[in-house]
Amino acid sequence: MLDTARSRIWEAMQIGPQWLLRDTEDPLLDEMTKKRLAPAPVRETSAQAPASARTGASAPASLASPRAPVTHRAPRAGASSHPVAATGAARAGENVIQIVTLPEETVTAAKTADWETLRSLADACRACPMGSTRQHMVFAEEGREARFVIVGEAPGGEEDFQGIPFVGKSGQLLTAMLNVLGIERRKDVTILNVLKCRPPGNRNPKPDEVAACSVFLRRQLEILQPDVLFLMGRFAVTSLLNLPPDSSIGRTRGTVYEVRVGAKMVPAVTTYHPSYLLRRPEEKAKAWEDLVLLKQTLARAGITFGKKDA
Ligand code: URA
Repeated sequence: MLDTARSRIWEAMQIGPQWLLRDTEDPLLDEMTKKRLAPAPVRETSAQAPASARTGASAPASLASPRAPVTHRAPRAGASSHPVAATGAARAGENVIQIVTLPEETVTAAKTADWETLRSLADACRACPMGSTRQHMVFAEEGREARFVIVGEAPGGEEDFQGIPFVGKSGQLLTAMLNVLGIERRKDVTILNVLKCRPPGNRNPKPDEVAACSVFLRRQLEILQPDVLFLMGRFAVTSLLNLPPDSSIGRTRGTVYEVRVGAKMVPAVTTYHPSYLLRRPEEKAKAWEDLVLLKQTLARAGITFGKKDA
């Protein structure tokens, strides 16, 4: 149908306006707007920077190269593992871009560290400025009997203050969601974050920060050897499923993935982050569907909880 005809129908149905693609410049555009809309110059980051830091494809191969999925195969992780060497500064035109990477010795030590050694390594980490701006490094909330691990994004203000993940407003919502399934915190589930330190002002983690901090997350999972993962929010989902950082969580929902943890493939369910649900309560119905899928996935792994039934 012609665009103009369609426009008229839409207008009659009061569902316009329809936006038409111009092939000529809009004569009404002012100079400022033209500059703003002009394509940004391509910026070279660093030849030395790890591909994962440049592209944001951040999960280390050992975590995210999936084998046969339960219902879906996550994309294979890149050949590069995680970043090494100290924080790098790469010149790009007039700008200096800081690339966050962990020192080689930290990466090496983390690979074989036990839980407490790993905690000390994360605590001592100053690879990025968050190591100095944080109050506490937030390592984990451990479940005594947990075979199930939740991965969130990064500590917020309250978590930074207490040194415990998910104790602020989004944590309260998470606790309520878990209670529906009969899951008790500090017993049935271990809770981790992609970043161990609070991003200033609760800004989003950057791809190189995610890549650097994934050294800790990877080893945490290797030590915990979970049987089921619940990935909450864009950063947990994209880093562990090795998806581009701007991937839509909505598209990943409803599928059980498999994430490699050491030699084992672990089923993983994705969902929105609780802080997103606090901002968009109308999406809670979808999170409910994700909880149902999680419950089925847990049951398939032989994990059941409590008395209540969802
Ligand atoms: N949001 C997260 O992703 N993790 C926390 O620990 C707190 C809020």
